[in-house]
Parts: sequence; C-alpha cells; structure tokens
Amino acid sequence: MLSPLFLLSLVGLSTQLVIDKFASPDSNALGNWHGCDEGDGITCTFGSGKLTVKATDTDYSFYTQLNGGCQDVTGMNSQYLHVKISGSSDFSIALQQNNPSCDETLSPYPQTWDIVYAPDYTVNGDIYVPLSHFNINKQKAVGFAFKAFRSTTATTFSLVEIVTSLPSGRTVPAKKPTGPLIFQCTRPNSIAFGIDDGVPELAQRTMQIIKDAGIKVTFFTVGSALTDPEGNFTAIYKEALDRGHQVALHSMTHPKLEGLIPASKIDQEFQQSLSTVQQKLGSRVSTKYFRAPYGTDGALTRQKLETAVGGGSRVINWSIDIEDWLWGESSTPEKQVEAVKRDIARGGNLFVSHYLYPSTVEYFPEFIRLAKATGKQIMRVDQCLEDPNAPPL
Ligand SMILES: *[C@@H]1O[C@H](CO)[C@@H](O)[C@H](O)[C@H]1NC(C)=O
Ligand SMILES: *[C@@H]1O[C@H](CO)[C@@H](O)[C@H](O)[C@H]1NC(C)=O
Ligand SMILES: [Zn+2]
Repeated sequence: MLSPLFLLSLVGLSTQLVIDKFASPDSNALGNWHGCDEGDGITCTFGSGKLTVKATDTDYSFYTQLNGGCQDVTGMNSQYLHVKISGSSDFSIALQQNNPSCDETLSPYPQTWDIVYAPDYTVNGDIYVPLSHFNINKQKAVGFAFKAFRSTTATTFSLVEIVTSLPSGRTVPAKKPTGPLIFQCTRPNSIAFGIDDGVPELAQRTMQIIKDAGIKVTFFTVGSALTDPEGNFTAIYKEALDRGHQVALHSMTHPKLEGLIPASKIDQEFQQSLSTVQQKLGSRVSTKYFRAPYGTDGALTRQKLETAVGGGSRVINWSIDIEDWLWGESSTPEKQVEAVKRDIARGGNLFVSHYLYPSTVEYFPEFIRLAKATGKQIMRVDQCLEDPNAPPL
C-alpha cells in the first residue's frame, strides 16, 4: 500500500504532516496529546474544529505533541510550520526538545526549546515559520508550544501542520537570534546552585552557610536591589565576587518580562539592569548569564536579552526546584527538602533557590549536603556549563 505521505507528494500538495485540527479536546490529528497548562491564567475552549485560547498571564501555554517521547524531524529542516489562527497573533511559538532518554519522568523535561515571536511570521491569520528557525536537536523533538500570550484578545487556532513550501509570493523574515535556554549542567559530575533574589535580613546568614560549606555558587541579582542603600546588597554581592562566586543578571525590577506592554519596556529592563550591575559591581559581573524572574519565558525576552548583551546570552533555568515559593511559608516547610530529593532522583543538577524565607535558609545546609551526597562537585553555573571564560575549578 502507498503511504499517505507518498500520495500527497504525488499529487503535489505541499502538506507534509497535519499535526492538529482541534477535532478533540484530548488528542491531536496524530493521536498524540495536546492540551493547555492548568491554572487560572488561561482558558482553552475546544469546539467545531477550533481551539480558542484566552490568557491573562504570559506563563501559560497550549501544547500539541509530535510524539510522547522523541520525534526525529531533522528531515523537515527545510520545511515550514504552518498555523492558521484568527484573533491576536501576539504570542510565541516554541519547538520543544526532549531529554536524551526521551523520558518525561526525568528532569529536565523538556530539555530545552527554541522560540519565535508569532507576529513576525503572521499575514492574515496564516503563520509560516521555517523549522530551521528553531535551534534545537531535531532528532529529539517533542512538539510545539504556543505560549506567552501577551494580549487580552483571544486567539483561535484551526490548523497546525508542516508544509514543504510557502504559498507563492509569501516570504519569511530572518531568524532573530536567541541564546540557549539551559536547565542542566553539562560538565560531567557537576551540580550547581543558582540563587536568585532574597531579603536583606537573610543575606548574611546565607553567605555564612555557603562560606562554611566551602562551595562556589551563582547569584542572579535584581538591579533595583543594588540601588537601595538600606538593603546593603551592593556590599554583599561585592563580597560574593571577592570570594569567587559568580554574579549575573535577574532583571531591573523583577517583573514578568514577557508580559510588559509596550515591548520596549523589556529592552529598558535589560539596559537598566546591565548599567546598574556594571556601575555598582564593576566588570566582574557575568552579564551574559540571565535568570528570568518567575521563570517567565517568551520570544521577546530571549531576543531582547541577546541584543542587549551583544550576543552570547544564556538563559539559566533549573532542574532542581526547592519549591520555596510553594512551601517556604507553609506549615510544612520540610517539603522543600522533599522537592530537592525528588528532583535529584530524576537527574536534576541545577538548582533554583532564593533567600526569601527563614525556613529556606535554615534548610540550606541540608540542600548542600544532599547535593554533595550525589557525589557530584558543586560549582558555579558558568563552570558547570564548561564556559571557557569561567575561572578554573
Ligand atoms: C553589608 O554587607 C557587608 C558585606 O557582607 C558587611 O561587611 C557589612 O557589615 C554589611 N553592613 C550592614 C550595615 O549590614
Ligand atoms: C523554566 O522552567 C519552568 C519549569 O519547567 C518553565 O515553566 C519556565 O517556562 C522556564 N522558564 C524559562 C525562562 O525557560
Ligand atoms: Zn526572582
């Protein structure tokens, strides 16, 4: 029997693979999972071959999968993602890459993704994105994510497919550079702490615990904290630099960057944060390294960061979440320890932590003990990523 794909090419249609026609709320045209993140920030309504997405928060996504494990799409690199929509095109599209084991129970899952800004590719409700614009390992594709919906106007999707060529007369823009999105240390046997914002009252205790443990870590600092003399953060991070820790960017005022309207505010956040860290802490700050406030992700953030730092940016996410945001102030703060054990067991090796709550800081020695118990070496994020500019171990 001739395969459907062969028949399509025989009659000269450009459709290569129909991924989603929104016929069912549970699965797509390939019989694979599709669905939205759960939560108050997004409403997804299926009906008559359409999906309508209305989001009030840029942190929510709709996903449609090529494969529950890994799909090799390297052969489609010269082809195009075609999406039909009506309503707002003000969102991002990501192609997700699975971890090396193609196993969603391991951490990180997904391993990474690359992302484009849909308005750059939209004409009259037709979106065409060259698959070559997604810089991921295409042997391990999981599927597409539609995310970071910036408008209060809904988006209605009616088709997601791969086509072999563009309609006549249609052109696509050049790829806007994005830095890699990193969830994991790459150096063998390494593990790293990325520590974000905190409160001044807990800063000295945190520094003392890190000093006592004899480890080097990476701090991601909010620019505005450095400009507030009462917080003493400029002195604290200068001392951290003197002790050989890495200090990197975490925005100027800690907003959900991708949701800022107009988008020029995202540029301002990066520019102000860069000039502030350089002015207050000098040239030793790792300005190419950035952690997104709230882990908020989107194409504009990735592109504008890359531009602001002059190329070579790295967005540092995590594969061990201590879940201080969930348990730090709860009646069960010990769940932070359970969260660390769980993510280490899944293979995570890059922490996200803060020093916002006394309970978190009191568990810090325990987190460090658990990290050491893996047998891996604790180091700065740039060292665990084998950055040639990182100091030697
Ligand atoms: C500010 O931080 C520095 C560096 O850790 C420390 O030496 C100094 O005592 C701190 N000042 C205050 C007022 O806490
Ligand atoms: C970081 O990871 C979290 C959890 O996987 C995810 O929700 C978030 O979008 C990621 N953030 C970035 C900037 O990639
Ligand atoms: Zn933060």
